[in-house]
Amino acid sequence: MPQSASIAPDGLHLARTGAADAVYPLIWLRHNCPTAFHPETEERILDLRDLPENPVLACAELIGDRLSLNWADGHSSAFELDWLLSHVPGEAVPDPARVERVFWRGDLGADGIRRYTAEDILASDQALVAWMKDTASYGLTIVEGVADRVEAGPEIARRVGFLRETNFGTTFAVRTIPNPNNLAYTAEALPLHTDLPNQELPPGYQFLHCLANEAVGGGSIFVDGFAVAADVEAEAPEDYALLSRTPVPFRFHDSTADIRSHRPVIDLFPDGRLREITHSGHLVDVFDMAPEAMTAFYPAFRRWLARLDDPAYGVTLKLKGGEMVVFDNRRTLHGRTRFDPNTGFRHLHGFYVDRQEFDSRLRVLSRGNGPAASSG
Ligand code: OGA
Ligand code: ZN
Repeated sequence: MPQSASIAPDGLHLARTGAADAVYPLIWLRHNCPTAFHPETEERILDLRDLPENPVLACAELIGDRLSLNWADGHSSAFELDWLLSHVPGEAVPDPARVERVFWRGDLGADGIRRYTAEDILASDQALVAWMKDTASYGLTIVEGVADRVEAGPEIARRVGFLRETNFGTTFAVRTIPNPNNLAYTAEALPLHTDLPNQELPPGYQFLHCLANEAVGGGSIFVDGFAVAADVEAEAPEDYALLSRTPVPFRFHDSTADIRSHRPVIDLFPDGRLREITHSGHLVDVFDMAPEAMTAFYPAFRRWLARLDDPAYGVTLKLKGGEMVVFDNRRTLHGRTRFDPNTGFRHLHGFYVDRQEFDSRLRVLSRGNGPAASSG
């Protein structure tokens, strides 16, 4: 706990041991005074314009675990120090959903993919959290023991949150159909891709519940797109700049939909951390960059394609009935080898839960468990 509070020209300072002073601009303190929030909904009810532009602090005092402020205009504020220290301007607010990300490559091997059982996830919040944290951390886990009925997978996904509906439905059956509108519904190989890159926001976590995989072929491959991107950044920084700054067109269209987007292959948060990988050889649309930009982009894109297929990155396995693979579709690329539908039945059942639902669930489940670990 800070031993002293002092008023300086840049705001109120709280001294911290082992760290620089936490500095709170005075207008921020007024804007975030506990009286600025509704006592029940905790939503902000204060209009910034009702505050003086430059509030004047008459006195600041530490009393126990609280900071008491008296303002020149007669208002007073009482802050809990714990709250102030978890909301230091310029520092990340602790977030239980921000799980440390572990990047992996081919040497992880199929045996290195963390596994959880449907029974545990359905029965226990603790198992649910452990599984979700690993799924967020690695961007890939397997749930085993999923019952042999199509609703069994969504029942697990709904432990996390709402399913994301798309033009393929709330859930979709991956099996061969007549007149397919998607390569997934044929017996063809699917090269490494992320699903629905053509959408304004591609779905977050993808679930593929394997009900049957008895045909010859139909093996799966997964690649950690963040690991690949990290290697591009280290080994080919010019490619990294092109891949993270060039908007690439994606499109899906059939008789009822025509959905288009532009996204960079590598998308970054404003602080430079990796946010998303978008890649689909079959939904990438006609390039529309200016000729000079296109001429620079093509070779970088070609090298990106070659790197994705480098066996150093891929983890391969053949899903078995009762297994469900769960992965971050905005990070982990997936693909399958072609199969021979005459040799046996293959049926996967797919659905998505967006990242915001997933993160919300992790935060809610972490409530009351003491301070959350935050890193990554
Ligand atoms: C898909 C897909 C993988 C598979 O449906 O998008 O990638 O193994 N399917 O069939
Ligand atoms: Zn897919």
